[in-house]
Amino acid sequence: MTVIYPRKFQNAMSARDILKRVVSDRELHLITLNRYRYSEQRSCKDLTEIIEQLDGQPKELIKDLSHHISDEARHAMWLTDLLVDLGADIGKPPGTSYIDEFDRLIDRESYTTKSDLEDAIIAALAAINITEKRGCEYFSAHIYALKKAPQTEENIKIRETIEKILPEEAGHVRWGNRWLAQIADKSPEHRQKVEQAKLKYAAIEQAAFESGDITLGAELRRVAKLVEVANTLPLWQRPQYLMERLPQTLLAPELQLVRVEAAQKAWQRDPQAFMEKFVPMFLNGIQKQEKTGSRE
Ligand SMILES: [Fe+2]
Ligand SMILES: [Fe+2]
Repeated sequence: MTVIYPRKFQNAMSARDILKRVVSDRELHLITLNRYRYSEQRSCKDLTEIIEQLDGQPKELIKDLSHHISDEARHAMWLTDLLVDLGADIGKPPGTSYIDEFDRLIDRESYTTKSDLEDAIIAALAAINITEKRGCEYFSAHIYALKKAPQTEENIKIRETIEKILPEEAGHVRWGNRWLAQIADKSPEHRQKVEQAKLKYAAIEQAAFESGDITLGAELRRVAKLVEVANTLPLWQRPQYLMERLPQTLLAPELQLVRVEAAQKAWQRDPQAFMEKFVPMFLNGIQKQEKTGSRE
């Protein structure tokens, strides 16, 4: 059976590269943790919706889902406690989030109102499974980055929280794999349906993920051009020039809001660090993109 892992961006930084940067910038770090909190909390709502739509059958799946919700609620609780302890924001994260975008891209009809209950179950399981895989990828990269980072009290606390969550997320992936494999084993038609659903939700998840990350996406090329122009200016004029033009350079204002906000905050806090840390964050992505491109 084909196992689908979230594809690493051909043109982008790996989860480890990204988390290394995130962990080195407290503000970005706290925003990222709040995004995790938001996603965990939201998944309780989404899973509850699936239980309601299943409306009593199959019992075994509903039982598993209710346990799953209890896990996700606990993850949200741990992250909320952590963020409150750290004095961080626990409001709705700015811009469009990964989970909102995933919800938007999913054709909810296809797994909620179809008369064929089995199709609906396959779709729901495939959708859950692929987001759980992404979660595991990010949490393990986050733990890795925190092990390499300065062992401050805060970093240790954050690592301990994520270390409690990760094994449960890995359990959720295994659970989804088991259910999907069981359904696929029923017949060649079932197998085909399962494989198709996996491909479909992997593609949707990838698109949602691409839209939500500050270092990824097609606009990297545009930022590269802008930086090229900025590099022709005297050093002291460059941050100002970039900040005035970044918002127009990055398309789709709502999707990009979070990127621009993160950039603006980074610049206001420390213009020199902005040039040294934030701009290379874009540039590293671009260089990888060029390297990948030249191999093709
Ligand atoms: Fe979770
Ligand atoms: Fe999970």
